[in-house]
This record gives sequence, C-alpha cells and structure tokens, in this order.
Amino acid sequence: MYTFNELSERVNKIIQELDIPETPVELYEPIRYILNLGGKRIRPVLTLMTANLFKDNIEDALAPAISIELFHNFTLIHDDIMDKAALRRNHSTVHTRWNVNIGILSGDALSIYAYRYLLKAPRDRLYRLLEIFNDTALKVCEGQQLDMNYENILEITVEDYLTMIEMKTAVLLAGAMKIGGIIAGATEKQINHLYKSGRYLGLAFQIQDDFLDSYGDTETFGKTIGGDILCNKKTFLLVYTLGHLPEDRKKEMVEILNSPLSDDREYISTIKNFYDSVNIQEITKNIIADYFRKGMNELAKTEVSSERRLWLEELITNLISRTK
Ligand code: IPE
Ligand code: IPE
Ligand code: MG
Ligand code: MG
Ligand code: MG
Repeated sequence: MYTFNELSERVNKIIQELDIPETPVELYEPIRYILNLGGKRIRPVLTLMTANLFKDNIEDALAPAISIELFHNFTLIHDDIMDKAALRRNHSTVHTRWNVNIGILSGDALSIYAYRYLLKAPRDRLYRLLEIFNDTALKVCEGQQLDMNYENILEITVEDYLTMIEMKTAVLLAGAMKIGGIIAGATEKQINHLYKSGRYLGLAFQIQDDFLDSYGDTETFGKTIGGDILCNKKTFLLVYTLGHLPEDRKKEMVEILNSPLSDDREYISTIKNFYDSVNIQEITKNIIADYFRKGMNELAKTEVSSERRLWLEELITNLISRTK
C-alpha cells in the first residue's frame, strides 16, 4: 500500500520526464512552467490510491492518473485567464508571465497532452475511460460557464452554487476515483460508491478553496487572498451571507457589491466584515467537515477492508485541515 508522498513523488517524476518539445518556445515553455510549479497532485493520487484499494499493483492506473493531472493543469491556465488571477502556486500565472493568447494556446495544447497520455492506459479499458473523460471535461466547462454567469447575478441560492461547484470541481475528483476503481477491477456497485465519495470530497474541496481565498494566507495558499471578492465570485461565503443577513444589512451589502469601493483592500475587508457578522468561518468549516465525512462514509460503503482504506482515509483527514 502506497502513502501519499510515495504516490505524489511517482506522479511528479513522470511529469518531469514528459517529453515536451523545446519549440515553439512560446507554446511549450508555459506547459513546462505550470507543470513544474508543484501542485498538490490530489487528483492523480486519488486515482492511484483508489486503485490501490483493490490491487497491490497500480501500474495500470498511472496513465489515467497522469492524464487527469495534465487536464487539471490545463483548466488552471484557462481558469486564471477567466478569473484575472495574477498568482498561482505562488508564482505568476501563465497569462501574466506571458500573455493571454499564450495562455489560451498552451492550455489547448496541454489538454491535448492529457488525452494523448490517456492512450497509454490499458487497451481494454480505454473506451470507457475516454467516455468518462469526455463527460467530465464537458461538465467542467459547464461549471466554469455557470461560474462566469453567476458573477453577474446576485440572487444565487446555495443550491445553484452547489450545482456549479459540482460541475467545475467535484466531477473531476469523482472521475479520478471512479477511474481508479475501474482500472483495478472494482464492482459496479463499488465504482458507484467511489464516484459518490469523490463527488463529496470535491464539493468539500471547492468550498474550502472558497474559504481559503478569503481567509487563507497568500504565501501558503499561493493565490491572491480576496481574489474571489474582487471578481464578484459567487462563493459559498458570499451566497450564504446574502441569504442570512438581516434585511437592512443585506441592502447595505448589495449596494456595496453593486458599486465596489475603489480601494481593493478596504473593499475586501468590508465584505469580510459582512461575512463575519453571520459567523461564516465556523459555518463554512462545519459544512466542509460534513461533506468530507460524507465522502468518507461512501468510501466505507465499498466494503473494502479498513486496513486497505487507511491511506485514503488519512488523505481525507489531512485535507480537512488543509491550508494550501
Ligand atoms: C485548484 O485545485 C482548483 C480548484 C478546483 C479549487 P488544487 O487546489 O488542487 O490546485 P493545485 O493543483 O494543488 O495547485
Ligand atoms: C476552480 O475554481 C475550477 C477550475 C479550475 C475548473 P477556482 O477558480 O476557484 O480555482 P482557483 O481558486 O483559481 O484555483
Ligand atoms: Mg480561479
Ligand atoms: Mg474560476
Ligand atoms: Mg478558488
């Protein structure tokens, strides 16, 4: 059974050894750049650990795991353009370091790398994996479009919000675990629980990302704190707060949201004062813990022995208190 560190090192080694051409340098350098900025590698590790629930030998799961991480990195390049984000993994984002066109095209190329890498997966499973990949990728696009649409709508419900994050984030973690199960020969019933588990983890993961975007530490989190507030993102924090403020305070907040203060830092702290007035930190932490617990329960429903679930459960437990 492999630990998180063993698996993420394995993933990193393969990624470092990818054969990415030198020229045109504008196309390929940003791909090397984003891949070497050191992300957490949660998704490929989820695929590998899930495969490891059922089998000691997880070699067959490596190709789809890498493929998922490549796809994830592609989404980050484009997401940073859409979110006008300057910082990613504590470094300049691709479009800031180069430019938007370079971000678009190198992102496109990286998504093709993801699909090309998938071809290394076992032949007999390839068709099914490709189906999952395509469905997942389209859902991520749908989620990202909703995320954009919601920037301009104030009356978003928690339910709308959950649908959006399910698509932009949760389906990829769900797909990562499902694929791990398929590769390792899990039963359809088990695969179903794995998908549900990954979905819950993904919901928790995105709500946590929203939380850290406002309450995290730039240096540790690697992104600009308050970026979501400045972008008018409908995060869990914003949606919940709007739904729970007394009428007069809500009116006040809506006015500020409609005409943001010109000083960014002051605007961010004003919005966070509204958040804090509904006790958002505690509420958000509870919701996150609740979804992680649901993810953990679905994992148990696979009826894989608790010894074999050890590392995956530890990963989930560690994720609950993540700061980056
Ligand atoms: C960032 O994902 C995008 C979200 C879905 C929140 P991660 O937090 O996994 O980013 P890296 O890969 O570790 O940088
Ligand atoms: C992540 O949403 C969704 C995708 C990248 C598909 P965010 O926009 O919150 O991710 P970060 O915070 O920029 O990593
Ligand atoms: Mg973003
Ligand atoms: Mg985004
Ligand atoms: Mg975010």
